[in-house]
Amino acid sequence: DWNMQNYVEEAVGRIRARVGTDKVILGLSGGVDSSVAAALIHRAIGDQLVCVFVDNGLLRHHEARQTMETFSRNLSVNVIHVDAGRQFLRQLEGITDPEQKRHAIGREFVEIFQQEAAKIEGVKWLAQGTIYPDVIESAGDHLKKSGLIKSHHNVGGLPETLRLKLLEPLRELFKDEVRQLGLALGLPRDLVFRHPFPGPGLGVRILGEVKYEYTELLRQADAIFIEELINAGWYEKTSQAFAVFLPIKSVGIIDNSRSYEYVIALRAVQTEDFMTAHWAELPYTLLARISNRIINEIRGINRVVYDVSGKPPATIEWE
Ligand code: XMP
Repeated sequence: DWNMQNYVEEAVGRIRARVGTDKVILGLSGGVDSSVAAALIHRAIGDQLVCVFVDNGLLRHHEARQTMETFSRNLSVNVIHVDAGRQFLRQLEGITDPEQKRHAIGREFVEIFQQEAAKIEGVKWLAQGTIYPDVIESAGDHLKKSGLIKSHHNVGGLPETLRLKLLEPLRELFKDEVRQLGLALGLPRDLVFRHPFPGPGLGVRILGEVKYEYTELLRQADAIFIEELINAGWYEKTSQAFAVFLPIKSVGIIDNSRSYEYVIALRAVQTEDFMTAHWAELPYTLLARISNRIINEIRGINRVVYDVSGKPPATIEWE
């Protein structure tokens, strides 16, 4: 709309005035905020912006490919794709505590981001997709559990070690405004309206120790769940929906023989602010279809359960 186009022009002008001919680096996660920040800054300064996209091996099905397609191929943004799945898994070996896992993932991200930043000559600015709620909620309750919330992307401490100035063009915007801005900048609707995804990714959706085998099973189950939600018109009626991998085995029967395989839990919630949430009353027929597909299509899963816990006292994520 007209107002948003005006806003884009103004924001672009402000970024150009501040940055001049300097180079800017940005950690692109594929989430809404960093994506909109990247698109806006790219509109303002083109190739002076270098994005770093770190694939930590804990992303959703096809997420790395889609992000690279959208930014590198379609928008011609300069994106460095770091394929670091193995490195992250090595750091996570033997760690079962949720906060320690978050810490290990955050630390590895900062490490890799710093290495990449050091390779780019003459970078003066670090751009981040910080939005207004991040600014005001910095002492919020739900941030306590995940004390490192967003530290994975809003790379805390980095500006100091890299001696960079901070560029946060979304600092005054609420989430719905960020989405409208994203659309005005030509980002695809499915990216702009995607459910939130935590920085530590599948790392906190695999209970306990993270193993490559588990990430593969979870990615497949999650993709089936989301695909069926979209097809049934339920994706936009839920605020967040995802699969969780439970590393416990239970007995089943397949082709007349006994199976002993892992469990997938499905979580779908409705919420305004993510501080409290209700589990979504998905139709039984939809749950049945999702369960059948997951069990029939994924070798290694023989049981699916639906999470019927509200927040509080349960949290949205399982870790
Ligand atoms: P909980 O599980 O605390 O989640 O009810 C509330 C919202 O926060 C997200 N979340 C995270 N986001 N890093 C993030 O970037 C994290 O460590 C993290 N932990 C939870 C969660 O997905 C939900 O949207």
